[in-house]
Amino acid sequence: MDQVNDLNADGIYEVAAIVGSLRRASFNRGLLRAAIEVQPDGMRITEAPIGELPLFNEDVEGEGDPVPVQELKARILASDAVLLITPEYNQSISGVLKNAIDWASRSYGAGQVLAGKPVAILGASATPYGTSRAQLELRRILPYLSMYLLPKPEIYVGPASQHFDEQSNLTDEQIRQRLREQLAKLLDWTKLVASGAA
Ligand SMILES: Cc1cc2nc3c(=O)[nH]c(=O)nc-3n(C[C@H](O)[C@H](O)[C@H](O)COP(=O)(O)O)c2cc1C
Repeated sequence: MDQVNDLNADGIYEVAAIVGSLRRASFNRGLLRAAIEVQPDGMRITEAPIGELPLFNEDVEGEGDPVPVQELKARILASDAVLLITPEYNQSISGVLKNAIDWASRSYGAGQVLAGKPVAILGASATPYGTSRAQLELRRILPYLSMYLLPKPEIYVGPASQHFDEQSNLTDEQIRQRLREQLAKLLDWTKLVASGAA
């Protein structure tokens, strides 16, 4: 609970969004753009980049967190909630997302910054299963890290090519509405966790 910030001076709850794909035309980054468009009043979603993180290595960690790790941890620490937008690789989350989670989960440097944070998950993938297997992995991992996982609404987008245009912008109004509802629930969830009632 102590890692959930009080309302910021401007009354806005900050959400650090992590996109588990580094691809330029990523559908999942398209989901992030849609999330920013439909975020509720009182919430500000910004991306916490993970593309410059080195591969996790305890020897490197032992010499002190590299700058991109420090920056990621600081972003999460300064946020009231986390939004994880995951692709699906081989029925699991991508290596780059797992790498980011592994770095952020460690108690060195700024500490285990994920603990106590509210978190919502969603994702887009090429198959009709729409990241359901990847999200199941997150549903297993995140509570282990003492995160408060928003149970629902669940958002599985697939086959992605049917729901985005050529610029990887979301074109599906039903999904956009579901995203609006999920983010409104995340805001309520974040306030609940901050109140200590969760
Ligand atoms: C290594 C690899 C494994 C993949 N495995 C799956 C999979 O298990 N299920 C699935 O739905 N799509 C799978 N895909 C396809 C991805 O869903 C697709 O590339 C998607 O566009 C990735 O998300 P992005 O657009 O945000 O980069 C895989 C892609 C890669 C590169």
